This record gives sequence, structure tokens and C-alpha cells, in this order.
Amino acid sequence: MEKEIKAIVLAAGKGKRMRSSMPKVLHEIFSKPLLGWVIEAIQRLGHETESIVVIGHQSHDVEEYLNDNYKYVKTTFQKDQLGTGHAVAQAVPLLSQFRGNVIITCGDTPLITTKTLKNLIRYHQETDSDLTVMTAKFDNPTGYGRIIRSSKDEVIAIIEEKDAIETQKEIKEVNTGVYCAKWAKIRHAFNELSNNNAQGEYYLTDIVKWSRKQGLKVLGYQIADNREIYGINSRENLAYATKLMKEKKIEELMASGVTIVDPSTTYISPETEIGQDTIIYPNTYINGKNKIAKFCKIGPMTHIRGNCEVGEGSKIGNFVELKNAKIAKKTNVCHLSYVGDAQIGSNVNIGAGTIFANYNSITKEKKASTLLDGVSVGSNSVIIAPVEIKQNAFVAAMSCVTKDVEESSLVMARSPQKEIKNWVKNKKGEKLNESRTENSNGKN
Ligand code: UD1
Ligand code: CA
Repeated sequence: MEKEIKAIVLAAGKGKRMRSSMPKVLHEIFSKPLLGWVIEAIQRLGHETESIVVIGHQSHDVEEYLNDNYKYVKTTFQKDQLGTGHAVAQAVPLLSQFRGNVIITCGDTPLITTKTLKNLIRYHQETDSDLTVMTAKFDNPTGYGRIIRSSKDEVIAIIEEKDAIETQKEIKEVNTGVYCAKWAKIRHAFNELSNNNAQGEYYLTDIVKWSRKQGLKVLGYQIADNREIYGINSRENLAYATKLMKEKKIEELMASGVTIVDPSTTYISPETEIGQDTIIYPNTYINGKNKIAKFCKIGPMTHIRGNCEVGEGSKIGNFVELKNAKIAKKTNVCHLSYVGDAQIGSNVNIGAGTIFANYNSITKEKKASTLLDGVSVGSNSVIIAPVEIKQNAFVAAMSCVTKDVEESSLVMARSPQKEIKNWVKNKKGEKLNESRTENSNGKN
């Protein structure tokens, strides 16, 4: 089982600089907690790759989030945060029998990708390394541990900024905080770490020196894109990480043939797939998991909230919000509409200002509606779920649809137009008469 992989994720720290009543790792990017992004990057290594998450501050909340969302996750509790080495030590008893490789990473670096973790593991295995440190280069390496290499290019030590001398501070290659270790060999290190350093902490980074002393092979795997290990310590970092995440996604989409008219005002979650030749207009926010097909037009100013599908050639226009909506081909939802919990067929036209009323605020229930192919919904209509509107039916403008509609029917669910002839003239006449009477009564 040498090939087997497990992960240890460090998430016990308080995150003081967030100034939050919430644990740092539960702060969100594109509505997913930082820790979730990390766990999912690990899980994509292989379906059942287990993560052991070291929790501490507000551990109850973190544990609850993990239990509610992930299957292959265990937690271990670090009572006092005595350093990253001490944190990993809390996971050692859970892995005493494990013979494979362990990835160690942090819960506050949400930009790490599965591809990079795979590359790290491959490098580690191909070089038959015992401990591989993932490194990155920064023009400004302030704050990071510096990588000290031997003449043979092996890693000799990691020196924390606070312990570094001036010449070491000039080193631009830094420790990303991600490691891959032959667990059976490295796990003994955690009983032997000391806290004799500038911060009085048990440093995880000291496993490098320990391993060298045992005659083990320690290598560094340098990644090309240093954005991947961007860590979050403050709200400013959180905003910047969101920017990095969406920029990366937009770069990938443009490279695959999607037009993004204005990358700077467009937000697209990494979990959204978009087909070739689709155009995304400015000020569009696409959150969560969605599938948008080829030749679609989205935006400007569209909000897609997740679990949506938009079929080939469909248009979703300005001030339209979609949530849990499956829309087939060549359908238009062009202006000022809310489509939530709905299935819409192909060649459907949804008029401006149409609302799919899906939520009952008293029962707190959400219900879904279905519109089949060729349906036309007039402007300002409300579709109250659950209803089904069958093929080619026509809903007159401003209808409030509360019952199913048969194929090819016209439905008018609004009060009929009433016209009172000369109503305005008569009203004005009345006014005139009133004021005459008032004057003659000597008022004014
Ligand atoms: C660490 C590395 C540094 C590296 C940097 C990359 C050490 C000693 N230093 O520094 O070389 O360049 O990461 O980002 O490892 N944590 C716990 N329990 C603890 C302490 C920390 O769970 O007792 C967790 C934190 O919640 C955090 C992670 O470990 O998720 C990293 O800790 P942090 O204090 O941020 O490490 P750095 O000082 O950034
Ligand atoms: Ca620290």
C-alpha cells in the first residue's frame, strides 16, 4: 500500500487578524468555506482520499461543517496551538498503522489545486524522496519560511523569517507549507521536535533537519504558479484570494474559447463549466456549480446562484437571477426575471419581469415548476410553484399562474380590462362643481 495517500490539514489556528466571531477556515470564497476548497482538492486525488483535519479554535463549528459536507474526513483536536509541528503531532496516533504517503497542508490556502498536489506526489514518488517540500518563488518572500538547499539541490533546512539572518532573508524560494512524506519514516519526527526558536513554537519545518539527520532524502518541488499557495489571514487577503480564484477561472475559460467581455467585473466560480463561443457580458456573477452550454449569451448584470444549466444558444439577460434552474436550448430569459427551482424547455420565451415564486415563507417550503418546449410567458407574470405549463402554451402578460396549463392553451390569469368612458372628464367636472359650491358658501 506504498502508493496510498492520506492528508493532514492544519486548521486549528484562531485567525486573529480576521477579527471575526467565526473560525477563519469557515470564511467563504464563492460561498464555499476556505477549508472546503482544500478538502475538495484533496478528495479529487482519488475518490476516497482521507483527510485528517486538525481542529482547535471553535472546533465544534468546524467539525459540524465537515461532518455535514464530507465523508472521508476525520478530525483530531489540538487543545493549545503550540505550533504547526505540534498540530501534525495530534494526527500521528490516527495514522500509526499507515504505510503510504501523507500530504500535509493548511486549511487556509484555498487556491491549491488537485493538479498541483498530483504533481507533488508524482515528483515525490519518481525521485523516491522521503520528504518533499512544495516550494514557490516570490519576488517579495516576506513572512514565509526560506528554503535552504545543498549544492546537490536537496533541501537542508527551512528557516522561518523570524529566525533568519540577513543573507537567508534574501532567498526568494519559500516553503508553501505543503509537504509529501513517506509516513512510516517521517512520523517519528513528531516526538522529537523542540520549541527552541524565535516564536517558542514546535515548527513543522524542523522535520527537514530531523530527516537529514536520519539520512533520509529531502527534496523540494517548486511550483510555477505561486498564486496557488496564497494564504488567508485577513479580510483583505480574503478579498484578494477571491480575485485570484476568479481571475484564474476566467483565464482558463478564455483559453478554452469563451468570450469574457470585461474580466475585471465578471465573477465566475471555478465550479462552473461554460461552453465554447458563449459570451459573458460585464457585471455578471456566477456562483456555485453550473453548466452553461455553447453559444449562450449571459449578462450584462446577470446573477446565477448555482445548480443551474443553460442549454445551447440560450440567452440570460440583464437583471436576471437564476437559482436551481434547468433551461434547455434556444430559450430566452432576457430581462428582469427571477427563475428559481424551475425546469424550462427549449424555444421558450420568458417575458420581462417574470417571477417564479418558489418559496412559501410560512411553511418554509420550496416547490418547483416546469415549462415545456415552446411556451411563451408574457411580461410581468408570476408562476406560483408547483405548476406545469405544457408545450406551446401561451401565458398572457401579467398573469398569475397557479394551476397547470394544457398544451397550446392561452391562459389569462389577470383581471379583465375595464373601461369607463369619459371617466376623467366627469371627474374633472365634479371637481369644478365642488369648488364652485365651496366658494359660494363663502369659504376661502
Ligand atoms: C508556516 C510555515 C512557513 C511557511 C508558511 C506558508 C511553520 C513553522 N512555518 O508559517 O515556513 O512559509 O506556513 O504559509 O510551519 N496551525 C495549527 N496549529 C498550530 C499552529 C498553526 O493548526 O498550533 C495551523 C494554522 O491554523 C494554519 C497553519 O497551521 O492553518 C499554518 O500556521 P501559521 O501560523 O499560519 O504558519 P505560518 O507562520 O504562516
Ligand atoms: Ca505562525
